[in-house]
Amino acid sequence: MKSVGVAILGLGVVGSGTYKILRDHREFYRQTQGVDITVESVLEINKQKALALGIEESKISDNIAEVISNPNVDIVIEVIGGVEPAKSFVLAALHSGKSVVTSNKELFCKYWHELEKAAKRTNAGLYFEASCVGGVPIIRTLIDGMQANVIENLTGIINGTTNYILTRMSREGLGYETVLKDAQKLGYAEANPSADVEGYDAAYKLSILSSLAFHTKVPLDKVYREGITGIQAQDITYGDELGYVLKLLAIGKNGEKGIEVRVHPAFIRKDHPLASVNDSFNAVYLKGDSVGDIMLYGRGAGDMPTGSAIVSDVIYAATHNDVKYATFKNGAAAEAGVKFVTDFKSRYYIRFTAKDRAGVLAKVAGIFAKYNISIVDLIQKGEDCENIPIILITHETNEYSVRRALEKIGALEDVVSVDSMIRVEV
Ligand code: HSE
Repeated sequence: MKSVGVAILGLGVVGSGTYKILRDHREFYRQTQGVDITVESVLEINKQKALALGIEESKISDNIAEVISNPNVDIVIEVIGGVEPAKSFVLAALHSGKSVVTSNKELFCKYWHELEKAAKRTNAGLYFEASCVGGVPIIRTLIDGMQANVIENLTGIINGTTNYILTRMSREGLGYETVLKDAQKLGYAEANPSADVEGYDAAYKLSILSSLAFHTKVPLDKVYREGITGIQAQDITYGDELGYVLKLLAIGKNGEKGIEVRVHPAFIRKDHPLASVNDSFNAVYLKGDSVGDIMLYGRGAGDMPTGSAIVSDVIYAATHNDVKYATFKNGAAAEAGVKFVTDFKSRYYIRFTAKDRAGVLAKVAGIFAKYNISIVDLIQKGEDCENIPIILITHETNEYSVRRALEKIGALEDVVSVDSMIRVEV
């Protein structure tokens, strides 16, 4: 039977989960996969943590050179996160011809091209299933399951922290700050939550996933990004009255005009398949030209789900001799000639506060008409108040037209404030 040795760089949440899966399933993989996978080395400064997991003292090291040069190590698992020192460690492993399995979306999104170049030089494998959507096998699906298709659309809820926060805001009518604090206490959000709540984490993942889906490099700077920090509870309530649920969506489209990639909060209809993806769960919805619609759902984070994705890559690397790299020219920037759509089309939910006077709505409607924006629904809230909230939903229109119209509406004397603009995806 083939024997394969692995090293785990970092025994944090994901590293520990990965170790446990490999330790507890060793015999199962021998039987089902025909390969004997053993953990030969771990890089961990906290020796006690490693010992507590049952790792032999001789296999624990705080020296990366020692770990990588270990002749028993064939595959290096990087679960440190962030760019450095993870990048140097991964490059060192690839330079020495060892295959790498990583869960590091930031590193992979920003430096995939460099890592791949190093991997190609030594014919090493480079696997990253755990970098996107945790335990949900979206990368393998795109590479090995959907390759018969031209993919037109990839829409997902790919950040668990924000989905947890928005779900609780919706269910309990609570404000963003209150739920964030609770999420931090419960471990669903980091002490510094900005990577999640500002949409960076989802943007890293969308850059990787849309590159794979559309067979061309979609660099991070092409992904439009907006987080959930400005979401107000009353908009979730008004959206609910209109039949919508609010989600942080990652949207990738490949159409005649080019590629469109964006991460932002969006209302979706309550009967949309993604509307029932709640709490910290993730889901990705794909549309292929042959298969039509498919959807994958599961846990996007956590020790065992992410460990599951890592171990599946380890098994793949251990049982495949051929190494697959990107299907496109993998540079830092987009390939010449690839167009990206920035003035995308959507429907819009808009809330503004106006003085309750005759003629205000006519002025607002006049501005929308000037920008060719047609209104589907309009609700005026409150009675006998000086200032009243007005909520409207537009037909599908262009992003830039809406932004320009809102600037003009905000400047009207009778409009107190333009409070919210949320895209509505159908
Ligand atoms: N913070 C991420 C999330 C973890 O909330 O989805 C996985 O990237």
